[in-house]
Amino acid sequence: MQKRWKQAWGMDVIQAEGGKKGVLPEAFGMEAARAARAFHRQLPGYQETSLVCLSSLADKLGVKGIYTKNEAKRFSLNAFKGLGGSYAMFRILCRRLGLDPAETSLEKLQSPKYQEVIRSTVFVTATDGNHGRGVSWAGGIFGCPVHVYMPMGSVEARAEAIRRVGPARVTITNKNYDDTVSYAMEQSRSNGWYLIQDTAWDGYEEIPAWIIQGYLTMASEAFEQLEQAGERPTHLFLQAGVGAMAGGVLGYAAHYYGEQKPVTILVEPSAADCIYRSALAEDGKAHSVEGNPVTIMAGLNCGTPCKITWPILRDFAEFYCSCPDYVAAHGMRVYAGEETDGEAVVSGESGAATMGALSLILERTELTEIKEAMGLTSDSVILLINTEGDTDPEGYRNIVEKGAYPIPEELQEDMR
Ligand SMILES: Cc1ncc(COP(=O)(O)O)c(C=O)c1O
Repeated sequence: MQKRWKQAWGMDVIQAEGGKKGVLPEAFGMEAARAARAFHRQLPGYQETSLVCLSSLADKLGVKGIYTKNEAKRFSLNAFKGLGGSYAMFRILCRRLGLDPAETSLEKLQSPKYQEVIRSTVFVTATDGNHGRGVSWAGGIFGCPVHVYMPMGSVEARAEAIRRVGPARVTITNKNYDDTVSYAMEQSRSNGWYLIQDTAWDGYEEIPAWIIQGYLTMASEAFEQLEQAGERPTHLFLQAGVGAMAGGVLGYAAHYYGEQKPVTILVEPSAADCIYRSALAEDGKAHSVEGNPVTIMAGLNCGTPCKITWPILRDFAEFYCSCPDYVAAHGMRVYAGEETDGEAVVSGESGAATMGALSLILERTELTEIKEAMGLTSDSVILLINTEGDTDPEGYRNIVEKGAYPIPEELQEDMR
């Protein structure tokens, strides 16, 4: 039986039943990570993002180490997502041209011989921002046209950021995220465009698997960097929208660390907690959140789990957390207030959700039972991924400088 904490300091947390086992897909193993990294190394502006050691925070919160992989510095994109879209687009172009990806360099792909096919390969995607930005950017590198659709309520600054980095034509629709994905799919069918979507469903699996393999570059860099620092993570906090990123990273962690895989905690917004709800159902199936969820965590505002990674999240994660918006806002302020040994970490709403959950769990006596269940102690080494920087600069200023989305008064009261 799973254990459940309902509304523990505003959060809902599930501890999965112990001893569960699943089949670990080879698709997210060592070889896949090597191939993705070999490709990414050739992209303009590539360099490993930093693994930032938050040592004073770790001291303050009473754990051995807190490290964050700072994806705000990935390429010029302010988020990790470009890793996935660019790699999948590369694989599609290789397939179209009959080239073996293992033997094909970016330079070869850019040679005049292939330009006619490349210029006629049109990509389309739906996005709440970061993924579309990556696809637009990669479209510019390859020389392919790109169409991007965004759900209603998308911030214009995010649409503009997509246009700025590449050739994408961007449209904000009047549909929620899931319906915008369906719309992009219809457009791809009727126009012969390639749908480059960062989630999978029945019949659409190969391209998202390539996208997820692209994310492994980030995981393999992080695990190697930790090893160079002489550390092995005991805990891994991952934020989830559809759970593609979390599933890929968790799958790779299970390959990389084997029996010593870190305890893995998934963090989602309460408004769009489809992975949490799927775990709660205990029937092994993925479940969706319907309607038009509203959350400041735009990148995590997704109602349907990714078909490929849901089984990994179901079988290999230990905890599922559903968090209100103030948890992410708190995480943004924690990052902003931290002195680091290396670079400062600017973290947006979706990037900071895990820091919000971690710091509250470690700080608040009301959450001690959860902390203990997670096995968080003075020996713990925690790995987080700051998946985005200030992708909504105005929202960032409101939260970090003006204190928007504070921890509610009634919770503060309880503390006294
Ligand atoms: C900044 C950020 N973090 C995390 C995620 C979650 O990724 P996934 O939808 O694969 O769970 C996203 C998705 O767009 C994102 O933009």
